[in-house]
Amino acid sequence: MSNIILIGYMGCGKSTVGIRLSYRLKMPYVDTDKLIEKEQMTTISQIFETKGEAAFREMETECLKKLFENKQDYVIAVGGGLVLREENRTLVRKLGKAVYLRAKPETIYERLKDDTTRPLLQCEDPQGKICAMLKERGPIYESAAEFVIDVDGKTFDEIMTEIEETVK
Ligand code: S3P
Repeated sequence: MSNIILIGYMGCGKSTVGIRLSYRLKMPYVDTDKLIEKEQMTTISQIFETKGEAAFREMETECLKKLFENKQDYVIAVGGGLVLREENRTLVRKLGKAVYLRAKPETIYERLKDDTTRPLLQCEDPQGKICAMLKERGPIYESAAEFVIDVDGKTFDEIMTEIEETVK
């Protein structure tokens, strides 16, 4: 399968870049968070609150498995924590080309400082949490990805062009 899978931390631009890239490449677009919200008929925040993060991680794996039923290739944006599971990294590799949109903590904090939809960042010190999580997750994103693109200071158009040139 030759899906293009966008991975990376919350706020790195997976959804925005993914939607635009899908138009440009004339490929359909799908977002695992949105698929889960649709299936559960509620928001990610509510899922975390009522069922817990572990249940959400199970849903992510199930969601990934269903993507293998697609008859054509998609641009797929996955939740920022999806590739933390080894099993999911294997599934992502089988699905296609994984591109890590790598962003610095400052870029992410600027984008997400007023966001209320990311349960993991509703805490006293979101800036500190972003730094700590990126330190831990950075190497995992890198190991899960076939390609890495640095997004800081770049426009969405520039990022898309880089992805197009990199994956072809
Ligand atoms: C998460 C990222 C979120 C969402 C959930 C957990 C994470 O997706 O799946 O809040 O663990 O990084 P986005 O990366 O699309 O914000």
